[in-house]
Amino acid sequence: MDNSIRIKELNMVYNGPDDDGTGLGVLQNVNLEVQGNEFVSILGPSGCGKSTLLKLIAGLEKDYDGDIYLGNDNPRYKRVPVCYMLQKDCLMPWRSLLSNVLLPIEIKNGDLKKARNEIQPLIAEFGLAGFENYKPRQLSGGMRQRAALLRTYLMDGEIMLLDEPFAALDEITRMQMQDWLTSVWEKHKKTVLFVTHDIDEAIYLSDKVVVMSERPGTVIGEIKIDFQRPRKREMILTSRFSDYKKNIIELLRA
Ligand SMILES: Nc1ncnc2c1ncn2[C@@H]1O[C@H](COP(=O)(O)OP(=O)(O)OP(=O)(O)O)[C@@H](O)[C@H]1O
Ligand SMILES: [Mg+2]
Repeated sequence: MDNSIRIKELNMVYNGPDDDGTGLGVLQNVNLEVQGNEFVSILGPSGCGKSTLLKLIAGLEKDYDGDIYLGNDNPRYKRVPVCYMLQKDCLMPWRSLLSNVLLPIEIKNGDLKKARNEIQPLIAEFGLAGFENYKPRQLSGGMRQRAALLRTYLMDGEIMLLDEPFAALDEITRMQMQDWLTSVWEKHKKTVLFVTHDIDEAIYLSDKVVVMSERPGTVIGEIKIDFQRPRKREMILTSRFSDYKKNIIELLRA
């Protein structure tokens, strides 16, 4: 199955708040290719259109120029299932962890009883065993994030769109989550497009880092990250890592 993402000459203008015809150019001539099973991060200034880009890829917004292909399908014309995690974790406070996680199964009218049995190994792998019946407010920030990721993972589709999933976490928890995400990804693989503001995080996790300009956002650089997998924390201390970082900072400054 082809789970690549190809974006060609994408332009997007939002209507302004006054509906007076003045629009806000958000994305300008965006071209981007993500190979199947590749892990690609997007870095760019706040408001440059990163979340908008994910929304278009997910097919939630269709009023744009240019083309998006997920494999051979165009989400503008055909619903293509993707795993999409919004900028906020959006767990439902009244539901237990387990029933939050199983929401995608419930939405597609799947066999919940079967899913409840089959999900146990994944619950453990995502570090949530023993907390199935806890409500989101009874979980730690990192656990909520992992629950939201597991729910995203259970959505149909071989393409994962993750919008700053770790932004709200403290540094130690964030490092743990990064290590855990690389290990889960190295094992299960899916195509991942990962939005972040954290340069180290982008380099550490990715096969490729895409840098966007100020709004209207466009791709101003792509840096291939040539570190072996499985990734090791120590690589952060190497000169190659600093070179990547320097390169990215220069692009973001330009
Ligand atoms: N529904 C909308 N209607 C009009 N303008 C919008 C809408 N959604 C977003 N925008 C505008 O589009 C621009 C890009 O927003 P977007 O959320 O894509 O940025 P972002 O790169 O994800 O920023 P951040 O890093 O802060 O999350 C912003 O200026 C925002 O005000
Ligand atoms: Mg955003």
